[in-house]
Amino acid sequence: MHSELLSFQAVGYAYPDGRRLSERFPAMRREALNDLTVSVKEGSAIALLGGNGAGKSTFLQLCNGLLVPDSGVILWEGLPMDRSRAGLARLRSQVGLLFQDPDDQLFAGTLFQDVAFGPLNQGLSKDQVRRRTERALSLCGLSEFSDLPPHVLSHGMRKRAALAGVLAMQPRLLLLDEPTAGLDPVSEDSLMEVLRTLVAEGTAVVLSTHDLEFAQCWAKEAMVLSHGRLVAFGDAKRSLSDDDFLVSCGLRRPRPLRAPSPAAGSGFV
Ligand SMILES: Nc1ncnc2c1ncn2[C@@H]1O[C@H](COP(=O)(O)OP(=O)(O)OP(=O)(O)O)[C@@H](O)[C@H]1O
Ligand SMILES: [Mg+2]
Repeated sequence: MHSELLSFQAVGYAYPDGRRLSERFPAMRREALNDLTVSVKEGSAIALLGGNGAGKSTFLQLCNGLLVPDSGVILWEGLPMDRSRAGLARLRSQVGLLFQDPDDQLFAGTLFQDVAFGPLNQGLSKDQVRRRTERALSLCGLSEFSDLPPHVLSHGMRKRAALAGVLAMQPRLLLLDEPTAGLDPVSEDSLMEVLRTLVAEGTAVVLSTHDLEFAQCWAKEAMVLSHGRLVAFGDAKRSLSDDDFLVSCGLRRPRPLRAPSPAAGSGFV
């Protein structure tokens, strides 16, 4: 039996701007997440799916205490999240979050310093920090760039650099916000391998993505959000190969047999 790491019980969250703007703009949803009840166990491999604005990034930021719910409770190992300074520091050394945008994460003068920052703050010895940093950079295919400043790297490489920083902390729960966006196919395959190894070793991973194929290939479970609500949580292989399921969750509309004429209209929905 795998034990429960994180548990959301009827969690709701509204951004301050969302509250204010929703009064003036009907298109703006007031709550980013509503009444969310879900849990993450040790060794989970969860693909977090949903359209743009569904609430994926908000969920991940609630998971590591960056955002505080307006309603409901979030439990870490069965206890309400400790939001004291020390409590959050402890939590974040066990719950690592890769941001959707790598530039929200990278800040140090060189890649090595950036990746070493997390392990250094965990109070590890110099030697341990160096080993973890080198290993994380190597897993992300960045060893030869370790002395470069992050901003000179391409977007996909910065994404991998940010990932290396999270991996170096060896969290028990790894939260990845669209880690495959912008990666080349080889890096994507390496990422899948790294994640498989981590999950086999007992790390829980929750990964948001729009890449249904990656999700189907890698995940054990699929969690689907729509307009801030949980609409499905179940076996990934089965559900993501079921067109009716995908359509019912708003993940994929049936493809037209022929390209629509321009007169038929187009645009994002
Ligand atoms: N900083 C913010 N201020 C106000 N509203 C926000 C903010 N960030 C997100 N939102 C709103 O919260 C809701 C959920 O957004 P979120 O970023 O969690 O979606 P997402 O599923 O991650 O989308 P994407 O696939 O585009 O990354 C959306 O309605 C969005 O407009
Ligand atoms: Mg997002």
